[in-house]
Amino acid sequence: MELPWAEPYKVKMVEEIFQSTREQREKWIEEEGYNLFNLASDRVFIDLLTDSGTGSMSDRQWAEIMMGDESYAGSQSYLKLREVVRNTLGFPYFLPTHQGRAAENVLFSILVKENNVVPGNSHFDTTKGHIEFRKAHAIDCTIDEAFDINDLHPFKGNIDLGKLEEIYKTHPKENIPFCLITVTCNSSGGQPVSMENIKAVKALSDQYGIPVFFDAARFAENAYFIKEREEGYKDKTIKEIVKEMFAMGDGFTMSAKKDGLVNIGGLLGMRDEKLYRACGNMGIIYEGFITYGGLAGRDLGALAQGLQESTEYPYLKARIDQVEYLGNKLMEFGIPIQKPIGGHAVFVDALSFLPNVPREEYPAQTLAIELYKEAGVRGVEIGTLLADRDPETRLDRFPKLELLRLAIPRRTYSYKHLDYVAVALKKIYDRRNEINSGLEIVWESEILRHFTVLLKKK
Ligand code: F0G
Repeated sequence: MELPWAEPYKVKMVEEIFQSTREQREKWIEEEGYNLFNLASDRVFIDLLTDSGTGSMSDRQWAEIMMGDESYAGSQSYLKLREVVRNTLGFPYFLPTHQGRAAENVLFSILVKENNVVPGNSHFDTTKGHIEFRKAHAIDCTIDEAFDINDLHPFKGNIDLGKLEEIYKTHPKENIPFCLITVTCNSSGGQPVSMENIKAVKALSDQYGIPVFFDAARFAENAYFIKEREEGYKDKTIKEIVKEMFAMGDGFTMSAKKDGLVNIGGLLGMRDEKLYRACGNMGIIYEGFITYGGLAGRDLGALAQGLQESTEYPYLKARIDQVEYLGNKLMEFGIPIQKPIGGHAVFVDALSFLPNVPREEYPAQTLAIELYKEAGVRGVEIGTLLADRDPETRLDRFPKLELLRLAIPRRTYSYKHLDYVAVALKKIYDRRNEINSGLEIVWESEILRHFTVLLKKK
């Protein structure tokens, strides 16, 4: 018999979490306008709201926290991070930022102008927000397979080259500051982009003189899928694959709260010295001096260590195995999810889960609330609330998919916790035909409304 596989780490510190009753949860969530972002964390038992900044750091990362050099300029912790950005990611220039959207803000302040178009694969909401805030347009060129949850395409984050070329042909070059490849593609279900596609996007963009940038929040998970699923990569190390991927980019923004394995932090990397200088100035205005960018020295050290750990295969296997485990459990129960299972989260298809809840009543948010009331599990809506209104017509934009995302924090929950989540959802699935109405908006903000929206029962 072969020895079974097991995690390449053990637990050194634990944190208590709290169970509540259904009655308590029903009262709390009504008081909070049926918005899960409004809940205090001690009212949540298992928190799958996000995998962003919610993971556990390693002992070595905590050691970096203790060794953090808090010098305003030229901190030793910054220099450690610079080594890793140069050697592991392969970029000569970078700026630390306080998180991913800050890197977007700095970069887009320099490159994105009114009426520009930024093609890419389903831009993340803050990314789209930063583009639209500048009166430019984010254009989704993801392959059509991504919008069919049952299509088993191994790289559903891929960019459709035909759609991309159409943008390149129909807009003057000056109006396209860059093409943005999000790895893995969060909005389409944590789906990876293949190396072949990354290279083809780069070649096409070169032909039209358009730079390619990565939104690299989950770059290591993307590399894992390339190793597992793409021909020719089985015997390459994750670090080799990461280098090869990033070699196709003129730059990247990164929320380090994901594959950086830290609780706060971001990065902006680039090859062009002039762009680095321009972004450096913008970073000083918004973030802080170029060697700390809104972070403490200790955060920079923890990030340098985190990037080295997240680009190791055994870590990635343990991480992605948990996501697969939850997804497989849900499938065993017949629950409709986005397939193949993504890298950081399981995405439940709310439209087929709750067929009696009209689209206008936010089925994915309705399902998220049901799950919270059922079991104290907090997920997040990736659907119409997140999609915001059309900036011109002010009408709801109905995305192709209406999903409940169950994002799994890194190195944090056990397989028993995941069993609990799966059974909670099954209980709702068994009584899905009794759920006939959803929610309506009481108050919403103009942009990025899902964070603060207030709702009531329809
Ligand atoms: N890009 C992607 C693909 C993301 O998933 C996120 C954040 C960002 C950029 C922004 O980074 O939060 O550090 O400012 N995603 C989190 C999530 C919030 O829950 O998926 P940030």
